[in-house]
Amino acid sequence: MVMRRAEIGYHDRMSMVDIPGPVWIMGAGSVGCYLGGCLAASGVDVNFIGRPRVLNPLREHGLTVSDFKHPKQQISAAALKLYEALPQLNPSTDGVSQPAPALVLLTVKGSGTVEAAQQLTAAGLPAGTLVVSFQNGVGNAELAQAQAPELRVMAGMVPYNLADLGQGVFHRGTSGALMVQDHPQFAPWQAVFDRAQLSLRRVPDLKPFQWGKLLINLNNPVNALSGLTLLEEFSNWHLRRCLAALMEEAIQVLQQSQVPYAQVLALPPEKFIRVLRLPNFIFKRVAKKMLQIDPLARSSMADDFALGRPTEIDSLCGEVVRLAQQQGHPAPRNAAMVRLVKDHTRQGAGPGQWPAKALLNALLQAT
Ligand SMILES: NC(=O)c1ccc[n+]([C@@H]2O[C@H](COP(=O)([O-])OP(=O)(O)OC[C@H]3O[C@@H](n4cnc5c(N)ncnc54)[C@H](OP(=O)(O)O)[C@@H]3O)[C@@H](O)[C@H]2O)c1
Repeated sequence: MVMRRAEIGYHDRMSMVDIPGPVWIMGAGSVGCYLGGCLAASGVDVNFIGRPRVLNPLREHGLTVSDFKHPKQQISAAALKLYEALPQLNPSTDGVSQPAPALVLLTVKGSGTVEAAQQLTAAGLPAGTLVVSFQNGVGNAELAQAQAPELRVMAGMVPYNLADLGQGVFHRGTSGALMVQDHPQFAPWQAVFDRAQLSLRRVPDLKPFQWGKLLINLNNPVNALSGLTLLEEFSNWHLRRCLAALMEEAIQVLQQSQVPYAQVLALPPEKFIRVLRLPNFIFKRVAKKMLQIDPLARSSMADDFALGRPTEIDSLCGEVVRLAQQQGHPAPRNAAMVRLVKDHTRQGAGPGQWPAKALLNALLQAT
């Protein structure tokens, strides 16, 4: 019987990299298309599972991945494998159905984790298939694992900003290395990701990094409710103080709960908070690098507002509130932020319009 190379895993003779098999991108959006695009451009057999909103432009224009460091890479529309429902698995070689993936990248938003994991289970992937959740928050891997106990779900983290620029172009705006909770099954993928120019660090415990990233992601609701670009938001003292207020409370909760959190930015979180609180004229001098942001960039929650989609607020401020409740402590500012975001989405979403000072007062006066 002749096996196609992707079905048995294959050895790329040019670069001496063994590719364990095909990759599925479960939730082709900003993260999925960027990671999948880099892998596909380096020769990995990648299957993108997503919605027509994202897949149609790929069908028309192909997929382009770009970043601030490397030349653009393009994959033609004809070379892309795009699915609006999970591909049928086929143990035989009829050339129509797909072989089982050796790796699934789970890249849906937190609100889609349960459904996506249930779909992976229903697809009948072989027991032990490796799934890496490249999602924000601290609980998505566990949530997916509970829905798909036969799969091996590991947590991952994307430290950089990725944007869908339209016409099939996905752009990485900032630097950093992907992180994955280490597991022997993932080891062969390290060289594959390296070759795809996706720097990746395997760590024995990802949780502190996930909490460290969550602290920074507390900016998502501030940005979304302000209705401003990230650059406008960080140039506004009141809005920076909103983020500082949420982070400060979250750090208190983490410390009271003895939950470790790691530094994921150039500055430790406590120092970052102090910088956020500096008045504008000093902040602009001290934080020049922080202000080197794409002038059009907004948080992904702002995109959720604009598209009327559910937000990830429960995986961000909501996690802080849950942890505080477990310890019998309050987290009024993060709880207030959960309420404000939910009120906004209940009222039909659209761009946020909170005046900066009013938003700060709403957080600081929350009890
Ligand atoms: N974008 C960033 O810069 C960035 C950076 C670091 C981490 N993250 C995190 O990475 C995760 C993904 O973010 P993202 O920005 O890539 O989100 P995204 O652009 O919304 O991509 C996810 C895509 O998956 C689709 N989807 C949802 N459920 C699906 C299903 N069952 N089957 C097929 N497709 C499905 C979504 O469609 P619908 O819109 O219809 O649901 C959406 O098109 C989030 O946890 C986010 O916080 C994002």
